[in-house]
Amino acid sequence: MLKDQNRISRRRLLALAGAGAAGLAWRFPTPALAQGTPIKVGVLLPYSGTYAQLGEAITRAMELYVKKQGGVLAGRPITFIKLDDESAPPKGPELTTKLVEGEKVDVLIGTVHSGVAMAMSKIAREAGVPTIIPNAGADILTRAQCAKNIFRSSFSNGQVGIACGQVMAEAGIKRVVTANWKYAAGEETLAGFRSTFTKGGGQILKEIAPPFPNVEFQSALAEIGSIKPDAVFAFFAGGGAVKWLKDYAAAGLRKSIPLWGPGFLTDGVESSIAGEADGLFTVMHYADDLDNAENKAFRAAFEAEYKAAADVYAVQGWDAAALLDAGLKAVGGDASKRDALNAAIARVTFNSPRGPFKLSAAHNPVQNFYLREFKSGANRFVRNAVPALADPGTGCRLGA
Ligand code: PHB
Repeated sequence: MLKDQNRISRRRLLALAGAGAAGLAWRFPTPALAQGTPIKVGVLLPYSGTYAQLGEAITRAMELYVKKQGGVLAGRPITFIKLDDESAPPKGPELTTKLVEGEKVDVLIGTVHSGVAMAMSKIAREAGVPTIIPNAGADILTRAQCAKNIFRSSFSNGQVGIACGQVMAEAGIKRVVTANWKYAAGEETLAGFRSTFTKGGGQILKEIAPPFPNVEFQSALAEIGSIKPDAVFAFFAGGGAVKWLKDYAAAGLRKSIPLWGPGFLTDGVESSIAGEADGLFTVMHYADDLDNAENKAFRAAFEAEYKAAADVYAVQGWDAAALLDAGLKAVGGDASKRDALNAAIARVTFNSPRGPFKLSAAHNPVQNFYLREFKSGANRFVRNAVPALADPGTGCRLGA
């Protein structure tokens, strides 16, 4: 399919070039050419550093989605222009500008790290480029700084924390120590957690927050060992999550102090943590064995293509491509119709591998949060713990 498209467009181009030489280019209608012209999708993701495997999973799923559609969305071939942001916020502005002004991309998809996403979104907002965030949860992007052209296929940090706090309080846990990287994602997840956990009768004894992406966890673990809380609530992800889980086990805490957290602790790193994480409970908007047709088809396709298991990051990449697909179809593949494209993305509803998917007025997913247990290398569904949870969207005036 992709080959056919390319062949047609090359033939058309040759015809045009010949006609141009003869001074007849004006006779050829441009819409036919536009059909074969690729849509340029600027992709800003981490391909190195502690979040590298997250960026890789998102990319794989997006590429697979497009491949499954024959390499075209709404009749247009898709070209991904990928840049590695290294999860380094200072790189955000320069790399985004490169995509927006240098490459003149039609659409932006990025990124994983909240700090980079804030820098990227500022430029995207000002330039008006339709933008889909396939992970970064920075609350403000779907709250006070929401925008008509910014969408999330993932979650807000606060939303994840709110779900975790509720589930842990319901489990009867009373006294916790929290541990998270000290940047927007860790702090906002903690704030959401604090709101529902304390409301449910829980108490936070101590908050420990090493800087991102520091993985020197010894003093934190020693402190947890001496405080002896009922449980620990931890936000780490990617390579940092692997290190945290290994150090937690090595410090002998796994048996005495239950470790809880968002599913980021165990998602995307399943093969590296099998021994350390068995029996761990996490809360997330996805579970590997969700019993729905979309999840089964998605996981089978991902496994067949990459000989690797899909994870929550892959789901978010897949759904970012699904949002783009729906938006492009609504404008007949003409990404220059930005207002119509944005409006179409905003109203998309579909069945995601994670369950029913729709966007809030602020463009953040309204979605189920599941309690999962890590068993035999997978995040197993336990129950639908917080169905159809929406971020509060505080301060967003879209749709108001
Ligand atoms: C974020 O920076 O927003 C972030 C990064 C990794 C995660 C979750 C959130 O797993």
